Amino acid sequence: MKNFRKALITGGNGNLGRLVAQKLSAKGAELLCLDIHETEQDNEKFYKNIFLGDICDQDLVNRILKDQRPQAIFHLASLLSGSSEINIERSWQINTTASINLMQAAKVCDVDLFFFASTIATYGSKTVDPLPEDFMQWPENMYGVTKVAVERFGSYLKNTCGFDFRCLRFPMVLSPFAPLSAKTAYPSHACRSAVIGDPFNFPVSRDTGMSCMFLDDVIRSIFEISQVPQTSLKSHAYNLHGFHFTAQELCEILIQFYPNFEYSFEIDQYIDILVKGWPNEVISDSAVLDWNWKSEFFFEESISAMIKLLTHGQI
Ligand SMILES: NC(=O)c1ccc[n+]([C@@H]2O[C@H](COP(=O)([O-])OP(=O)(O)OC[C@H]3O[C@@H](n4cnc5c(N)ncnc54)[C@H](O)[C@@H]3O)[C@@H](O)[C@H]2O)c1
Repeated sequence: MKNFRKALITGGNGNLGRLVAQKLSAKGAELLCLDIHETEQDNEKFYKNIFLGDICDQDLVNRILKDQRPQAIFHLASLLSGSSEINIERSWQINTTASINLMQAAKVCDVDLFFFASTIATYGSKTVDPLPEDFMQWPENMYGVTKVAVERFGSYLKNTCGFDFRCLRFPMVLSPFAPLSAKTAYPSHACRSAVIGDPFNFPVSRDTGMSCMFLDDVIRSIFEISQVPQTSLKSHAYNLHGFHFTAQELCEILIQFYPNFEYSFEIDQYIDILVKGWPNEVISDSAVLDWNWKSEFFFEESISAMIKLLTHGQI
């Protein structure tokens, strides 16, 4: 494995974490997991050690880093947008304070590479389309606020002491593992309903859409950016984009696969306005230029891949 042999994945039992573990393990890395939720049996084999606990427990974090000496950290533990809005103090604690403390501890323990998963929610709702890379980041929800704060701290450490902070800002991730509680993940939930034969109610209007990426590209991007020499990475954070589609376009493609798929539109104003405020296209030229990023999944391929995973993957 280029760059590191042993890595810690925080949030290693989540939607993305379990697949990052699968990918890194297949490449020969020795992996540690820190998550507050238990590891599903299928995923245990990817980890040499699993630490069940709260990332806000600084003693636990320090102990893991001192005893285990990982050379890389993939920091994915986070409260997502809905939970962050419900409990803003807890969101700040987990997403910001714990992330900053983790970076400080990583610096002390000479961790070589620190990956952080950010989001286009750091841009707020008054965006333009396509979204330029240097657009101002003034998030409007707590999730975005916490993420932009971590980006700033990581960038500060990168500039002042060469800390190898690497960050990707993801758009909506189309994934069979999308938590059911994440209301903005309705495209992923609609695919699941179509596959299992349940009716689905879209919380947005027919013309609402957003920049999106398929899970496999997201996992590949995390792996690829971890393999690039530090000197090639000119930015502290890179925006990524896969494709765009509206709710109506999603219905039409799902009906082609499942002609009996029943759907309706019952607009939740909060979700509809939130998603409409996100860009449909995000410029990601720097990722292409600095580390040769190339999306492989577009709308049709992503829906087919989702259906395949949901049908055969016992998800
Ligand atoms: N999925 C998306 O659409 C998307 C988009 C942009 C960015 N991201 C970011 O990617 C990362 C992974 O997202 P995901 O979709 O896998 O989310 P997820 O909710 O499935 O995973 C997050 C993991 O963090 C763990 N966690 C939460 N609080 C914790 C705590 N206090 N201590 C230890 N672990 C804790 C959870 O148990 C969970 O396993 C997150 O940082 C998220 O903000 C995701």
